[in-house]
Amino acid sequence: MANTAKVLNIPGSAMVVLIGAAGSGKSTFARAHFRATEILSSDFFRGMVSDDEGDQEATPDAFALLHLALEKRLCRGKLCVVDATNIRAEHRLRLLEYARSYKRSAVAIIFETPLRICVERAASRPGRTVSATIVRQQAKQLAPQLDDDFLREGFLKVFRLKLMEQVEIRRSKAASPRNDRHDS
Ligand code: UTP
Ligand code: MG
Repeated sequence: MANTAKVLNIPGSAMVVLIGAAGSGKSTFARAHFRATEILSSDFFRGMVSDDEGDQEATPDAFALLHLALEKRLCRGKLCVVDATNIRAEHRLRLLEYARSYKRSAVAIIFETPLRICVERAASRPGRTVSATIVRQQAKQLAPQLDDDFLREGFLKVFRLKLMEQVEIRRSKAASPRNDRHDS
C-alpha cells in the first residue's frame, strides 16, 4: 500500500455503515477491503429472497434478513459492513440501535463520488441499474448531512472518501468481546 493511502482506523468489532448514492462505489469498496462474510448487502439479501437483486418489492424482506444477520454478528463481536445506500437518518437509526444494544462502535464511511460519475456508473453497470433521477435525489438528500449530524446520531467516527482515494483499513482489537468503544 502506498504511503499516501488514507488510513481508516476501525475497531475490530465495529459496525461499519457505508453511505452514498447508487453508483458511488460502496459495494466495490466493500469487496476490496472486507471479507465477503463481513459484508451485509441489501442487494445480496434482495437476491436471496427473490432471486433478483433489483426487485424493489423484496426490500422489506431483504432488510429483515440483513438486520437479523447484523444482530447475530454484532452479538459475536464480528465486524459488520452494512452495504446499502443508508442515506436516510431513519434507516441508520435502526442500525445504530443494534450497535448500541451490543455495545459496538458504529463507523460511517461516506462516499463523496461526484454526481455525474454516480449517474454514469449506476446507468451502465451490469445487472441492476438505477435511474439518474433517483441518483440525483439520493445525492441531494445526502449533501446537507454534516459530520456533526452523524456523530449526534451515534457514530463514533465519520470518514469521507473522494473518488479514487487510496484507503487502508486498520482494525484495532476490541478491548473486550462485548465492548469496543474505547478503541482509538
Ligand atoms: P458499485 O456497485 O460499487 O456502487 O459501483 P454502489 O455504491 O454499491 O451502488 P448501489 O448503491 O449498490 O446502487 C457501481 C459501478 O461502478 C463501477 C462498478 O464496477 C459498478 O459497475 N465502479 C465502481 C468503477 O468502475 N470504479 C470504482 O472505483 C467503483
Ligand atoms: Mg452496491
